[in-house]
Amino acid sequence: MLLGTLSVLFHVLCIYVHVVSAATCSCSPLFVPVHVDVLVPKDPMDVFAGLKSNLSSLRRVDDTYDIYGVFCRPDTMPPKKAGVLQLLVHGLTYTSQYWSPPVEEFRNYSYAAFSCDHGLSTLAIDWLGVGLSSRPINASDVQFPTGAAALSQIARHLKKSSILPGVSPFRKIIGIGHSVGSSLLNFGAIVEGARFPFDGLILTGSLSVMVPPPSIVRLSARDVDPLRWGALDPGYITTTSDRTAFYPANPNAFSPRMLIFDDFTKDVGSVSTFQQAPTTTLTTRYTGPVSKVVGSEDQILCVQTGRCADIAALTATEQGLWPAAQSFEVVVAQGSGHDLNLDFLAQGPFNTFIRLVYQFAGL
Ligand SMILES: *[C@@H]1O[C@H](CO)[C@@H](O)[C@H](O)[C@H]1NC(C)=O
Ligand SMILES: *[C@@H]1O[C@H](CO)[C@@H](O)[C@H](O)[C@H]1NC(C)=O
Ligand SMILES: *[C@@H]1O[C@H](CO)[C@@H](O)[C@H](O)[C@H]1NC(C)=O
Repeated sequence: MLLGTLSVLFHVLCIYVHVVSAATCSCSPLFVPVHVDVLVPKDPMDVFAGLKSNLSSLRRVDDTYDIYGVFCRPDTMPPKKAGVLQLLVHGLTYTSQYWSPPVEEFRNYSYAAFSCDHGLSTLAIDWLGVGLSSRPINASDVQFPTGAAALSQIARHLKKSSILPGVSPFRKIIGIGHSVGSSLLNFGAIVEGARFPFDGLILTGSLSVMVPPPSIVRLSARDVDPLRWGALDPGYITTTSDRTAFYPANPNAFSPRMLIFDDFTKDVGSVSTFQQAPTTTLTTRYTGPVSKVVGSEDQILCVQTGRCADIAALTATEQGLWPAAQSFEVVVAQGSGHDLNLDFLAQGPFNTFIRLVYQFAGL
């Protein structure tokens, strides 16, 4: 896999400030230009994303994209914490908003705000092809190798250069993914192993085997919402309006308003990005600390299979794919669904993420 260099320009659109409990937090939307030079499978439906292919079935994607992100940091921080960044990677059909949903009780659901409260910075990005990030005309350019390389390039760059004037480069970058966003980080760890520029990985809503429930229907985005997405390549997909499988089956476990917000703010993803999630069944040689956090009521990963009940057995299965990891832990958040951040128990997983970041960053 060829990895190119990252250009260094950042465009700051504007700066806004929000007050979170006692702490004040400044958030800046920005674009990070990344240069990606990778080999992708010619067949965008290749479930192993080219990892098992010979050269004749691969093609090169060499391009520069603008990756959108929202960078939030506490206004006052001890220097040790100031050197740590959490790179937040949403799941399929979500955007960076997953980490700070603007619904009524948004303070309860915003991990960006929760982090600020705990003195930690976040950069929540939109995937390549999604939200405000560059969207290649041809959806088959948006595959696991391209999406994962964009994440690595952001992390590499932010350890060398400042994200904003007055902010020093980061010493430690912890990758926190959700669902297929976790799978993208997992893919980067497979491809780059010990060179992967993250100092720890927290992979939420992601196990090595996925069982998508039939109620999550994926269709070409242009058929689902012709007004918004009518001009897109049919290889960009989204869901229909039933997104209940992302929540616990118990309707009292989450706000009905969250479902409305969720459908209203849903975005697209490429069909390859859905198709290539089975790469999480492959072994990685990543050497940093790793944790997986999954909800016991996750209807995609746990409920149908029952395999989240025996945490020791689940840990043994998952850990087998990370033989070189410095540490490996599976946390089953009792009562949480697939979208751990969006139900009434969100604060539980948030506390777990903070504990793991402290541990991984040596705080
Ligand atoms: C490369 O892979 C393709 C598709 O799997 C196969 O048809 C072809 O024979 C392979 N070529 C070589 C040289 O192995
Ligand atoms: C997208 O790119 C692939 C690979 O270059 C090509 O085979 C395909 O025809 C392209 N699709 C469109 C709609 O341009
Ligand atoms: C949100 O937080 C407020 C204040 O801590 C609390 O009163 C409320 O019950 C929380 N709501 C939910 C849905 O967790």
